[in-house]
Amino acid sequence: MARRFLVTGGAGYIGSHLVALLCARGEDVVVLDNLSTGHRAALPDGVRLVVAELADQAAVDGLLAEGNWDAVFHFAALSEVGASMREPYRYLLDNAMLGTQLIAACVRHGVRRFVLSSTAAVFGSAAVSPIAEDAPIDPGSPYGESKHMLERALYWAGRIDGLHSGVLRYFNAAGADPSGRLGEDHDPETHLIPLAIDAALGRRPPLLVFGTDYATPDGTCIRDYVHVADLAEAHLLALDHLTPGGDQNRDPDRVHEGGVTWNLGTETGHSVLEVLQAVARVAGRPVPHEPAPRRPGDPPVLVASARRIRAEAGWQPRHPALDDIVRTAFAWREAHPNGYGD
Ligand code: UFG
Repeated sequence: MARRFLVTGGAGYIGSHLVALLCARGEDVVVLDNLSTGHRAALPDGVRLVVAELADQAAVDGLLAEGNWDAVFHFAALSEVGASMREPYRYLLDNAMLGTQLIAACVRHGVRRFVLSSTAAVFGSAAVSPIAEDAPIDPGSPYGESKHMLERALYWAGRIDGLHSGVLRYFNAAGADPSGRLGEDHDPETHLIPLAIDAALGRRPPLLVFGTDYATPDGTCIRDYVHVADLAEAHLLALDHLTPGGDQNRDPDRVHEGGVTWNLGTETGHSVLEVLQAVARVAGRPVPHEPAPRRPGDPPVLVASARRIRAEAGWQPRHPALDDIVRTAFAWREAHPNGYGD
């Protein structure tokens, strides 16, 4: 029998890739999205979309009161490190407060499983690389802080109310569904790979390289780019681990109360300049770019250790190579110059 899932932010970039995967497996999916950054066209036919704000407690309550939810996947959030340095309270309120409200509503309505889109940004300028789950938490931005606050809310929801939660800390989500149906469409776009692709295609001015004097081999920031479809798969693994009977292999010492915390990355770092080279290889033309000041809030290096999810759930990214990731992003962007066109 199909299971029933609520996906907040399911019309967004990462959420829509999970929705597609759940639908392909015959699951029953309802999406709650305010469409501020998501796109109706990113949803498969037949998926019920409830257009509402997370702040609309009556709407959220009404939906959760329908009952029979096997899990809630919570993607809906503001997600830009740089913007959070300019609008810290907006990030803290929207992400941490509304997310906590959602967790409380889930508990009230008897939801037993909750999977949070968290982020590598909880680590800030981590002293270690690669970064394992137990590395010191030190968010370098209100965005990272807001997600960490939700991680803590889930910890308490687990301890006090028995909510089983998966905390998935994405490193840099990138690429597009290999079928070409889904991709990245932000307005304004702020992410490196889509901007570099557009610069190579001559659709934008030269890319600004934010900071060329970091203590890294070429002076630019290093990130762990992980394919969005691989992130989507990890959600299904998290769900298995939160489902009674699905977690026999779990080492109880390595999970937080009632749940799992996993870092999701390929364990390989690429500098901004290396990404531009990869885009140039895929596009068959150089990426015009110029140096620019550092972007506040950017940690110099974020590379995941994904050992825990590999050991506990056998996760193996299918698209670990940067060129493959860029190739899927390029195919989407070339075919959809206006994104979803809405
Ligand atoms: N960058 C540039 N020029 C640009 C855009 C980005 O040099 O025009 C650089 C950034 O300074 C950074 C790197 O490219 O060093 C990647 O930047 P992105 O904006 O693509 O991604 P972020 O690392 O800032 O953040 C992303 C997600 C966050 C998530 C984080 C986890 O947007 O939600 O990855 O590592 F928390």
